[in-house]
Amino acid sequence: MVRADDAASWHGGSGRPRLHVVTGKGGTGKTTVAAALALALAGAGQRALLCEVEERQGISQVLDVAPLGDLEQPVTAGLDGGEVIGLSAQAGTALVEYLRLFYKLGRAGDLLRKMGAIDFATTIAPGVRDVLLGGKIYEASRRTRGGRHTRPGAAGSADPHEYDAIVLDAPPTGRVGRFLNVTEHLADLARVGPIRAQADSISELLHSPATAVHLVTLLEQMPVQETADALTELTGTGLHPGAVIVNQVRATEAAAPLALLREDGQPDPEVLTDQLASVGIRPGPATVRGLLQTGREALDRWELEQALHTEVEAMGRPVLSLPHLPEGIGPDAVLRLAWALRDQGVAP
Ligand SMILES: Nc1ncnc2c1ncn2[C@@H]1O[C@H](COP(=O)(O)OP(=O)(O)O)[C@@H](O)[C@H]1O
Ligand SMILES: [Mg+2]
Repeated sequence: MVRADDAASWHGGSGRPRLHVVTGKGGTGKTTVAAALALALAGAGQRALLCEVEERQGISQVLDVAPLGDLEQPVTAGLDGGEVIGLSAQAGTALVEYLRLFYKLGRAGDLLRKMGAIDFATTIAPGVRDVLLGGKIYEASRRTRGGRHTRPGAAGSADPHEYDAIVLDAPPTGRVGRFLNVTEHLADLARVGPIRAQADSISELLHSPATAVHLVTLLEQMPVQETADALTELTGTGLHPGAVIVNQVRATEAAAPLALLREDGQPDPEVLTDQLASVGIRPGPATVRGLLQTGREALDRWELEQALHTEVEAMGRPVLSLPHLPEGIGPDAVLRLAWALRDQGVAP
């Protein structure tokens, strides 16, 4: 197993990825984890871009800031005083920019959008929407502070990249393969020409070691299964899996229910009755049965989580754990999760 406490490789790669794709089964905490990761990666004097692509305004909810638009804007500070910039990438806007760039359409693009033609084009042509969104990330990843664009794989220049890290709150595992393998899924009408060329460049970035795909899971059967399947799929398509991030880990205390079991693993009503009596509580048999039932369930849950954790570790990726925060998710909670990531080696 790759160990997460090896600070140099919490992501499991040899180099240092700059684009972090965060995916996982829906509802496991992708948006929350992506935000925490961006905070942990925004080093002193650095900028991290936190980008969503499904127009859900998840980032603004998690960080409690005004809804994000298509313009990159500061949303919070990183752990070391760096800056986290938010972006809700929208295919429509990207298409207008794109038409402007390649077809010198100028304001006609806006007109097309008003007419609904953009929605039409991005809905009708499978893959084109993903290329447009991927294109925004690609552009942001190459942009330098001086506003120029580096060639992919170009040697370090004096003008540093605008973003030291880019964290993508990606589509869920069910859709992410399609999103990341942009070239394969392009509609027929975009198999040649500038859209194709754009897709190839994006694909090159996504398949390079500069990109790590992290998987968020819960210690539950379905998310763990989806994580295993996703790892197989990612590796099969030449993408670089990063860490498996186990979210919402509860501090389950197994000792208490364990103490109530007899040697054969069955709950022992007498032990519980005696224990309660020792603190002056004398419950009836029904209460004792109820308590034992609750204890048994807690123990079953604990055993299941242990088994799933073992399964996760056997996947051969670095494993990071984040606690379940009962107070719910807001800016303070994200900060706590970011520190938890930092404690496990996630650093700029
Ligand atoms: N570590 C955590 N502790 C407590 N609640 C969490 C944690 N992570 C996520 N949540 C909650 O779980 C739900 C799903 O999280 P979210 O980040 O929106 O997931 P996704 O983007 O995968 O759909 C939200 O209600 C969020 O507040
Ligand atoms: Mg989300």
